[in-house]
Amino acid sequence: MSTHPAVAELVTKMKKACAAHDNPDEIVTAVASAAKALAANKSWVKPEYFECDEVQGMGITILNEELDHSILVETVAWLPGRGVAPHDHQTWGVVVGIEGEEVNVNWQRLDDGRNPDFAELEIIEERQICNGDVVPLLPDDIHSVRNEGETTSLSLHVYGHALSSLERYEFDPINKIRRVCPQRKRRE
Ligand SMILES: [Fe+2]
Repeated sequence: MSTHPAVAELVTKMKKACAAHDNPDEIVTAVASAAKALAANKSWVKPEYFECDEVQGMGITILNEELDHSILVETVAWLPGRGVAPHDHQTWGVVVGIEGEEVNVNWQRLDDGRNPDFAELEIIEERQICNGDVVPLLPDDIHSVRNEGETTSLSLHVYGHALSSLERYEFDPINKIRRVCPQRKRRE
């Protein structure tokens, strides 16, 4: 994988933030401005990043993943009308809008988490994410995303760990179910 210099600069800043802070909250704050700067400078964005898998409704392109699976940088495109169910990440993350209109919904758990297959969720915030808007994510935060625009959306996603090597969770708020999040198809 050849990494664009602008992406490499963000990765360097992410590593510095991880070395300087232990608390995911502080890492997210430190990484957010660098991620926002990369989303504003679109010189690295290629047309193929907008290509989506019809079945999953989205297209994920890995821009950088360290060999030890730390530090993941990727773009995610969603087809109009498509999105993902509420899920967590089991690592810190930052999402920044690049193109289009994604609606980001933050949820909170109402149950005590004692039953691993059960979860009761309620919406705490719903925001429209356009170019430059930042969504900070802590390891247990739960969010869902849908593209309510008429064009394919694109956003930048950075995480403290490769999502493909984490067991994380997806939620069905209507049926109050918590289950292991399916692996998404990713391209490099
Ligand atoms: Fe997510």
